[in-house]
Amino acid sequence: MGLVGMILIVLGFGVLSCALADQSPLLWVGGGAGQVNTYRIPLLTSTVNGSLLAFSEGRKKSSADVGAKFIALRRSKDKGATWSPTTFIVDDGSQADGLNLGSVVVDESTGAVILIYAVCFHQYQCNPSSTMMVQSLDDGYTWSSPRNLSVELGVKSFAPGPGFGIQKRYPPKVGRLVVCGHGTIEGDGVFCIVSDDHGKSWKNGAALKSVPYNQPKQPLDFNPDECQPIELNDGSIVINIRNQNNYHCRCRMVVRSWDACESLPVEELVFDKTLIDPVVAAGVLQKHNVMYFTNPSSTQHRVNLTLRWSFTDGKSWENEAVQIWAGPSGYSTMTSLEGNAAEDSKYIYVIYEKGRKDYCETISFAKIHLYGGK
Ligand SMILES: *[C@@H]1O[C@H](CO)[C@@H](O)[C@H](O)[C@H]1NC(C)=O
Ligand SMILES: *[C@@H]1O[C@H](CO)[C@@H](O)[C@H](O)[C@H]1NC(C)=O
Ligand SMILES: *[C@@H]1O[C@H](CO)[C@@H](O)[C@H](O)[C@H]1NC(C)=O
Repeated sequence: MGLVGMILIVLGFGVLSCALADQSPLLWVGGGAGQVNTYRIPLLTSTVNGSLLAFSEGRKKSSADVGAKFIALRRSKDKGATWSPTTFIVDDGSQADGLNLGSVVVDESTGAVILIYAVCFHQYQCNPSSTMMVQSLDDGYTWSSPRNLSVELGVKSFAPGPGFGIQKRYPPKVGRLVVCGHGTIEGDGVFCIVSDDHGKSWKNGAALKSVPYNQPKQPLDFNPDECQPIELNDGSIVINIRNQNNYHCRCRMVVRSWDACESLPVEELVFDKTLIDPVVAAGVLQKHNVMYFTNPSSTQHRVNLTLRWSFTDGKSWENEAVQIWAGPSGYSTMTSLEGNAAEDSKYIYVIYEKGRKDYCETISFAKIHLYGGK
């Protein structure tokens, strides 16, 4: 619980000294006698009405990426203090290669919460892979039945996120929904899909393909994988990417799009050597001109979940960091509330895979105070 990282940084608008305000509760614990063996792949979003929604995959029989799953949901109406019981909003039955999360995106003008996920992503005892969407128009209480986006996007293996999609706030393409993810292991790369009509229709956007494309990879090949987009105030979209084969470094790849994810030019690709990474999905958030980043800060192992921050849109990172969990830790993602309440400018929220022996034992929630208080 205690405060961590109390070094003060003087900022144009005040003082930032991120501290772990609250590390509770564990939102999901696997291994019980229930219907779920392992919970993995946490997603987190805030809604236009100020709720927090947490999602995960409830893997029924084992911790494997394939197999049958639920999409689990918990909701908080009080900024993470208490959470609704788990509901399963999608159930894929007993499929050999069921659903995989996923990317959640909120349309600010309609309030819709849109969740995009894959089924049969690995094409293990099934064919083809499909991109699916469900949405809630009532703050996450009720959900539509799944809609098959492959009908309009074409059939292809696409694993959205994991993390959140964005809605463009600044030109070009204000209002556009952008969801990015990755392809199959061989046909890997970062791919984005976009909607300019609040999720009614979707089309394929930019790609940053692996090399050699559609061919088996070797260690150190260029293989961009799971990714998280964010929008900067200049309207560009920055995508922070898992570097699957450790091309160039054991660190994150970052690419930038200037045209709302119509293109991801290779000239805009950089390798962020400060953001060392053990090949994992990481969290990125932009709030009030500060960029936040979470991952297990290690070149080798999924341990030491760490929060970093940047006042230069990710060009450099402050030396101070907050260790959220020293032990095994895996995928992470962040959100914040955008309301007018003074409190909403003080906190960001993190959800991540956390364990004592193994990172996939639980999914935990942490509230981070940005100015060092509780
Ligand atoms: C948000 O809250 C208002 C007021 O309670 C309500 O009318 C509206 O339907 C809510 N919106 C959503 C998306 O739940
Ligand atoms: C989704 O649509 C595609 C294209 O029509 C089809 O091939 C695929 O079987 C559908 N998937 C599901 C799960 O219905
Ligand atoms: C955890 O990560 C931080 C930030 O990279 C680093 O300073 C620290 O040494 C790491 N701790 C361990 C035990 O690896």
